[in-house]
Amino acid sequence: MGRITLDKVKKAFGEVEVIPPLDLTIEDGEFVVFVGPSGCGKSTLLRLIAGLEDVSGGQIRIDGQDATHAPPSKRGLAMVFQSYALYPHMSVRKNIAFPMKMAGVPQEEQNRKIDAAAKALNLTDYLERRPGQLSGGQRQRVAIGRAIVREPAAFLFDEPLSNLDAALRVGMRLEISELHERLKTTMIYVTHDQVEAMTMADKIVVLRAGVIEQVGSPLELYRTPRNLFVAGFIGSPKMNLIQGQEAKKYSAGTIGIRPEHCLLSTDSGTWEGTVVVSEHLGSDTFLYVDLKDHGTVTVRGNGEVSLHHGDRVFITPDMEKLHRFDDKGLRMP
Ligand SMILES: Nc1ncnc2c1ncn2[C@@H]1O[C@H](COP(=O)(O)OP(=O)(O)O)[C@@H](O)[C@H]1O
Ligand SMILES: [Mg+2]
Repeated sequence: MGRITLDKVKKAFGEVEVIPPLDLTIEDGEFVVFVGPSGCGKSTLLRLIAGLEDVSGGQIRIDGQDATHAPPSKRGLAMVFQSYALYPHMSVRKNIAFPMKMAGVPQEEQNRKIDAAAKALNLTDYLERRPGQLSGGQRQRVAIGRAIVREPAAFLFDEPLSNLDAALRVGMRLEISELHERLKTTMIYVTHDQVEAMTMADKIVVLRAGVIEQVGSPLELYRTPRNLFVAGFIGSPKMNLIQGQEAKKYSAGTIGIRPEHCLLSTDSGTWEGTVVVSEHLGSDTFLYVDLKDHGTVTVRGNGEVSLHHGDRVFITPDMEKLHRFDDKGLRMP
């Protein structure tokens, strides 16, 4: 089980309120991602749940039990950090065994759990090595293994892939998603990378300055961002945001259109502009188009599009996919 409820949880460091009172429910078995820019309070929120920081107010419940002031070891949660925090002088086996040894788990049971975790994480052939003899991805798997053997009510991950190179990150991302499919244990995963959030989460919690801007499934956030912050944060390349006269035509303060929802033409269309930069990725072409009065917009072309710097183009937004925001930046119906 691993249902976690935060009720008006807040956190201040001295005078500075980092997390204003916040409510959040994480369902048993859910994969929840906390995402937001650096410094927005993601780690702090995770550490409050883990019990590594004391709350300044509010209540944390784990499976219905008040855990607000319970020590970390009594919460039944396992945390995996960006820095793997492995013991360098111990073998992989001993690293994974460590929490069980501390808890006095019988040797036979330890061995059984280590073998199962090693199998799940493809570490069977590495159990006698030391962390220094492993790649970054393998070390992170050992850290996850050490969490698995505790059979926690929930796994808490704090940017666990940030130290890995891009290719390894994608591989580990899949492994963690697969692990979740198999274990079906609640996972809370912190990242500043919206692609990680979109690809892994059942539920995304978008944070800004300690405030929850929106909670929803990846596609809910993509389709109906509640405000300009979420609109700009979720999606890559970013949603184009246009203000001024053009927005007023739609009685909005700002209109938004995603790069993939713009139709390109060299003959005619809603907006006329000039290609400033073209990025040819093969699978996609990203065009940065100067619309003069409305600024520069990004357009995603399917596959190879033979347009280049200086070319004149027309852009027509898909009206069904147009987002409207009011003067306060809130989504309009
Ligand atoms: N122990 C601390 N003492 C004082 N300020 C802190 C402490 N830990 C974090 N902060 C501040 O709280 C804010 C949120 O930090 P953090 O939760 O680490 O953000 P994130 O993980 O989203 O990058 C930051 O402004 C940070 O400087
Ligand atoms: Mg952090």
